Amino acid sequence: MFDITMVRSDSKVGMYEDMGDFINGLFFEERNAIANMSNLASLLYHIMPEVSWAGFYLFKEEQLVLGPFHGKPACIRIALGKGVCGTAAGERKTQLVRDVHAFAGHIVCDGDTNSEIVVPMVKEGQLIGVLDIDSKVTERFDAEDQKALEAIVELLMKSSDF
Ligand code: SME
Repeated sequence: MFDITMVRSDSKVGMYEDMGDFINGLFFEERNAIANMSNLASLLYHIMPEVSWAGFYLFKEEQLVLGPFHGKPACIRIALGKGVCGTAAGERKTQLVRDVHAFAGHIVCDGDTNSEIVVPMVKEGQLIGVLDIDSKVTERFDAEDQKALEAIVELLMKSSDF
């Protein structure tokens, strides 16, 4: 059984440390990408404070298609280069958006979202998709979140078959 109450969420450093251990447990001896993305979306959504949506878009036939997530139903298909997700995927570069209203072309899936971070997923040079995390709080994410989330995506890439 996985008990998420073991993960500290009162300090960011403690939270990401515990989360790393927890993720290693989740991914132990399981390489199925859908299973690992589903568990990871659930963990991020339930543990990270002030997060309203956490999930994946997968790169299929030259566009991003909605994958496993937690939160309200979301936009299903996003063209490469469009919105925050399409930009992260197209540039293969994390987009840390402190205020989505100031991001030209931001795609509104949930009108209550005010900030967002999108980390590209790349494996052996191939674009796999993106991890997208949204918040109703403006400036919810910072460089510390970016570093930790990039490491978590790296762990997912290494531990799963895509
Ligand atoms: N806001 C994103 C779209 C995805 S949803 O937030 C889940 C974007 O601009 O790419």
